[in-house]
Amino acid sequence: MKSAQLADWCCEEFRGKLEAWTGDLAKSKLGLNSEQWRRLCGYGLPAERITAVIHNGAAVNGNASFPTLQAINVDSTADLIRAASHSAALTDFVYISGGQRLRISEDDDMEIAEEVAQSNGYAQSKCLSELIVKRYAQGIASPQQNISIIKPGYIIGIPEEGVANVDDFIWRLTASCVDVKGYNAMDAESLLFISDVDRVTTAISECCSRTEPTQARAANVVKILDGMPVSSFWEVLRHGLGCELHPLDPDSWMNRTYKSIEERRERHQLWPLLQIVEEGHGRIGTPYHPQGMVNIDQRRIQAAVKKNVEYLSSIGFLPMPGGQRVSSEDSIAAVRFTGTPNMAVA
Ligand SMILES: NC(=O)c1ccc[n+]([C@@H]2O[C@H](COP(=O)([O-])OP(=O)(O)OC[C@H]3O[C@@H](n4cnc5c(N)ncnc54)[C@H](OP(=O)(O)O)[C@@H]3O)[C@@H](O)[C@H]2O)c1
Repeated sequence: MKSAQLADWCCEEFRGKLEAWTGDLAKSKLGLNSEQWRRLCGYGLPAERITAVIHNGAAVNGNASFPTLQAINVDSTADLIRAASHSAALTDFVYISGGQRLRISEDDDMEIAEEVAQSNGYAQSKCLSELIVKRYAQGIASPQQNISIIKPGYIIGIPEEGVANVDDFIWRLTASCVDVKGYNAMDAESLLFISDVDRVTTAISECCSRTEPTQARAANVVKILDGMPVSSFWEVLRHGLGCELHPLDPDSWMNRTYKSIEERRERHQLWPLLQIVEEGHGRIGTPYHPQGMVNIDQRRIQAAVKKNVEYLSSIGFLPMPGGQRVSSEDSIAAVRFTGTPNMAVA
């Protein structure tokens, strides 16, 4: 609720319809009391039984190890699946995945697992959770349960408001690139999988409104393959902020970024994400063939990126057109979201 209020998403008229349970994903049975747990398992008066679960909560932290994240990101999923397996009331279960490179082609779980094994603990925890949900859909879920997995790329604010989360990797990297006046040129021809939060919530509600159960006892996997060429993303920045932004060879980009991090250390946007930056050399895109792209609403996503950039300028996270920031650099720490930097890999 606090986050929703901070982001201006909290609609007072819905308050009466909402029942918020203060649990803790890190605890057994999500830290719920026995009555809440029973309702989640499909018991209680018919109107009180939980009929849909959307599992979105996670510790989105690319620097934490797998053991640190296991309870919040994996055990919570296992507990929710356990509850689902007891429930005759539950009809929809939606898991929001993340942390891995999105593929346009069909996923090969073994290939993804091998790739993720070389990646960070966050990616591993999300991948393992996804596999738990998939196995449940394949073997145990009752036929009336629709089990879905949503795989978004980077998630940003909507084109109308552009409220961006400054803890997100994409914006921290962007701010750093603006400061060093360059981005990794190797990435320029790649596709950036990026969508606004409305696109993701629409996909979630579509999953929950499915009337036909999945045919082949498999999870309904929904990839949100909206995006734009990486070069267009930087173009929006160039036009929106009027800033100098050059494609640099990976070594030059890395050297400039190291220099900037050394100068500002803990105050640098990428300080807590250095390991991830080093792993990817600041790449945000995925190589692609234009024929393979699907469902790309570039006008919407370009408008969303533009609005997010305007918003980030207005709070001093990015400079204003002309170069100056609206407030001192230290105010970056005081903007609305002040959690752990979020690492989400498209
Ligand atoms: N951001 C992206 O670009 C992106 C991309 C792909 C997938 N995803 C996935 O989308 C989902 C949401 O990500 P986000 O970017 O919105 O992250 P976020 O802003 O950090 O939100 C995470 C949510 O999880 C909750 N949470 C964390 N630890 C918890 C705990 N121990 N107990 C209860 N709740 C807890 C947080 O609650 P509080 O607000 O109370 O802390 C928050 O509501 C995640 O599953 C992530 O993997 C994100």
